[in-house]
Amino acid sequence: MELNRRTVIAGAAAAGLAATTLGTGSAEAAPGGRKPVKELFGKLADGTKVHRWSLENGGTRLKVLSWGGVVQSLELPDRHGHYANVSLGFDNIDDYVAKTPYFGALIGRYGNRIGKGRFTLDGTAYQLSVNDGVNSLHGGTKGFDKHVWDVEPFTKGSDVGLHLYYVSIDGEMGYPGTLRTKVTYTLTRDGDWRIDYEATTDKATVVNLTSHVYWNLAGEGSGSIENHELTIAASRYTPTDSGLIPTGELAKVSGTPFDFRRAKAIGRDIRAAHPQQVTAKGYDHNWALDKGITARPEHVATLRDPSSGRTLSIASDQPGLQFYSGNFLDGTLVGTGGRVYRQGDALCLETQHFPDSPNQPAFPSTVLRPGRTYRTSTVHSFGS
Ligand code: GLA
Repeated sequence: MELNRRTVIAGAAAAGLAATTLGTGSAEAAPGGRKPVKELFGKLADGTKVHRWSLENGGTRLKVLSWGGVVQSLELPDRHGHYANVSLGFDNIDDYVAKTPYFGALIGRYGNRIGKGRFTLDGTAYQLSVNDGVNSLHGGTKGFDKHVWDVEPFTKGSDVGLHLYYVSIDGEMGYPGTLRTKVTYTLTRDGDWRIDYEATTDKATVVNLTSHVYWNLAGEGSGSIENHELTIAASRYTPTDSGLIPTGELAKVSGTPFDFRRAKAIGRDIRAAHPQQVTAKGYDHNWALDKGITARPEHVATLRDPSSGRTLSIASDQPGLQFYSGNFLDGTLVGTGGRVYRQGDALCLETQHFPDSPNQPAFPSTVLRPGRTYRTSTVHSFGS
């Protein structure tokens, strides 16, 4: 099936995922917000153009690529009003294609790992693309982060934003069902960055979409995030085996390095030599949020950089949060500002369902069936 802009949008509209307002790029500026601006970012090897959209509202400046819905830059003021880009990335498309560890990207169909890339649904066994040892990570060898999305700008009241569309055909990366996906990035008048994910399918499937921004609130390329203070509203987390697949246990954080119920510097316990940290080379775990699944986004985590005063507060309706402390950054990638990224130079806070849920009956279900719409939202609020 050939996918082009028209079939993607028509398909999305037919699936009830139509854009809420204008999608022409000629929208008037929202009060307080700047109309999204489009520019050429680069070209893929086959000549396909990749565009970058720039948005600004409420003091937050966001740059998004049509490639993977990547947040290429997110600029925030510090306590003195000085802006810095707090999201790791590259200044060119070739590096995103060749070597990105999911910098800023949309992740699908399944955020994090599925053990051995296998699962059984309604009695049928599926084999997924395997790309992390024996396991499937972040959707497989060519996940949603490695496709050009169809992007439409919008303004709605005082909000500005982008609708991003991607259609994943039946069988792509081994997943059943054609999945029509719409992700909306909104910058609000308060400078919040909100993500609304929606998807429909024509066969029973599994889905777990998330965003993979690497945060450094002192600015990308400025060094370690070990002095950042983190709070996670969770009393339990999901320990993993050596392949980072959950064992199924919901272990208590109490008395362990995994206790972030009160603000704690990330570096404080990161060398505590807990067996789970040795396996993961730091933190790379799913926290089972105390609030569970909620109808609307509720507070799940707060991050604060004492040096700049910048803060990030995350609200989500999802049951889990993956906190990854940038363990695999190894000093070989040169980032947007021309500086090298080393281990622990950023962290990810991925709102999600638990990893490997399709193989863990006790975990909340990630099954999506025809006639239902997958919907989930995450809100990032900033301060300084
Ligand atoms: C997630 C995983 C990590 C790692 C990163 C990308 O956060 O949990 O193990 O794969 O993505 O490098």
